[in-house]
Amino acid sequence: MDTVEEIKSKIDIVEFLSEYIRLRQSGNSFRALCPFHKEKTPSFFVSPERGIWHCFGCNKTGDIFGFLMEMERIDFPEALRILAGKAGVVIEHYNQQAVSQKTKLLDICRWSAEFYHKVLWESPSAAPAREYLKNRGLDKKTINGFQMGFVPDKWDALLKFLTGRGFKEKDIEAAGMIIRSDKGGFYDRFRNRITFPIADAHDQIVGFTARILPGTKDEDKTPKYINTPDTPIYNKSRVLYGLNKAKAKAKEEDKIILVEGNMDVLACHQAGYENAVCTSGTALTQDQIKILQRYTQNIILGFDVDLAGQAATQRSIDLLLHQGLNVKVLKLGKGKDPDEFIRTDLNGWKKALKDPQPIMEYYFSLAFSARGGSALGEKDKELSIEEKKSVVKILLPIVSKLGDPVERDLWLKKLSGDLNVSEISLRDALRRIIQPRNPFLKSEQIIPEKVSGEQQAGERFLALVLKYPEKGEVLKNVVLDMFLTPRDQTVIRITKDYYFKNKNIDLTRIKKEINDKEVIGYLDFLIFLAEKEFESYKPAEIDKELNCLTNLLKKKYLNKKREKLLQELKEEETKGDRETIEKIMLKIIKLSQGIDSC
Ligand code: CTP
Ligand code: MN
Repeated sequence: MDTVEEIKSKIDIVEFLSEYIRLRQSGNSFRALCPFHKEKTPSFFVSPERGIWHCFGCNKTGDIFGFLMEMERIDFPEALRILAGKAGVVIEHYNQQAVSQKTKLLDICRWSAEFYHKVLWESPSAAPAREYLKNRGLDKKTINGFQMGFVPDKWDALLKFLTGRGFKEKDIEAAGMIIRSDKGGFYDRFRNRITFPIADAHDQIVGFTARILPGTKDEDKTPKYINTPDTPIYNKSRVLYGLNKAKAKAKEEDKIILVEGNMDVLACHQAGYENAVCTSGTALTQDQIKILQRYTQNIILGFDVDLAGQAATQRSIDLLLHQGLNVKVLKLGKGKDPDEFIRTDLNGWKKALKDPQPIMEYYFSLAFSARGGSALGEKDKELSIEEKKSVVKILLPIVSKLGDPVERDLWLKKLSGDLNVSEISLRDALRRIIQPRNPFLKSEQIIPEKVSGEQQAGERFLALVLKYPEKGEVLKNVVLDMFLTPRDQTVIRITKDYYFKNKNIDLTRIKKEINDKEVIGYLDFLIFLAEKEFESYKPAEIDKELNCLTNLLKKKYLNKKREKLLQELKEEETKGDRETIEKIMLKIIKLSQGIDSC
């Protein structure tokens, strides 16, 4: 067995894909919404038996390697490295340049995290850091679980450690851990800081966030938090802090709590809310949303969203809604972040999480309270005309972005009632708001390949026979020419031969008889097609479908034959040979009877 096959045999495809998508069993296969294009009904199929997947929507197909490459946008060597690690398979000849470079950077990050972590617990110089973390309520389990660390106030603490382990300066620089000085030397990027290693979804550390230790000199001269810059292994717009630890719970609970800061993530996890993540030094990006969607469609926003100011936050909500996620907002006390909330009022936090606000309700109360008026539902105080106008100005653009027209209607009604303004005028105003186009839909809409009805019938016939070999006798009723494409003809020829020799259909052996990779891939497609279309068919329905398809194929085939004969007849008529003409006419009559009886 070669390495790839060995890895495939050790990793259960359903289990592995389940880390990214929600699979539901149906018959022999599993289905999901395709992660590679936008869709509302699942056309993504996985066959655990054969270790492959196929999407009928975007026509992509592959195994675990293809899936990981597509999902993480990585090349084969990197997928190989990740999957080999997962399967516990040792790869003997790693000669790929790219892999060894990335592996080196990952090693550097891993060793850096270990170094910082060890310093935090063991170095006397880290005593104030330990004290600080304790005062912030973080316990040992959390600190260790997230491998938090500390780096002392020196220029070369990490640099020395890593070069001592044999790493080269240029690689350490490429990993973002050191910076080249004007004089040409190098110094540590992170100094006198608490360190938070950032892992990817496969638990590999790819970068760091680091917080200044409070109460130290120069505290106000540097940013509170600094991050690893983008490197070959770290892309800040594709990373979510805490995700590696959050993904299991996120799936289980079917929701993710999105908070603003690292400390918030830690506080949540420590309090048992292990489905919390945050972005690292960026506003939420499209890529991050796509990653979140692997685990759930439901996002609970745990940050202080202030309508006027936070353009970035607004954008996050916009993006989430556009991408079709369900967004709710936690009602946090004024000026509190989740970390503080959990520490000072755990019960309040629990209550807030039980009853998060739907996003529109949240916007309504915010818009009304921003105008000094009553919050949602209280209509005791009539707003001035100016105030009403400004509420409309805030809320209408938000209503206009709702994808569901019914929902749009409901909120419009509510707004009309709350403001005591006629629905007609609100509707009029709404129409004037030009809807920004959804950037996701545009790039991902898929135009299905056009396949003729005849070709489809051929595919369906083949799929049925391959899925239900006990119906193999129907193969007697078809001839090669009934199938349009050479590919279909190859499949039917080999299947027929095999069936009439062995009285069964063994796909694995049939595949062995075919040398053409494309045809083998097509066989896989046909099996998926059968699972998609005929999984729940009863025996009688299978017979009926086979009958219909055979007749249709036959009819089309005979029709074509008749066309040909008619053409021949025309030619013969000009020549005037009676005998030949009669022969052709007889054939045509016979054919026509055949066609009618289909
Ligand atoms: N952040 C950053 N760069 C900064 C400030 C903040 O990358 N200069 C990021 C960090 O990931 C941080 C998050 O934004 O965790 C939230 O920042 P902030 O609200 O300022 O900090 P808190 O989470 O409240 O942190 P703390 O409680 O430690 O003060
Ligand atoms: Mn905070």
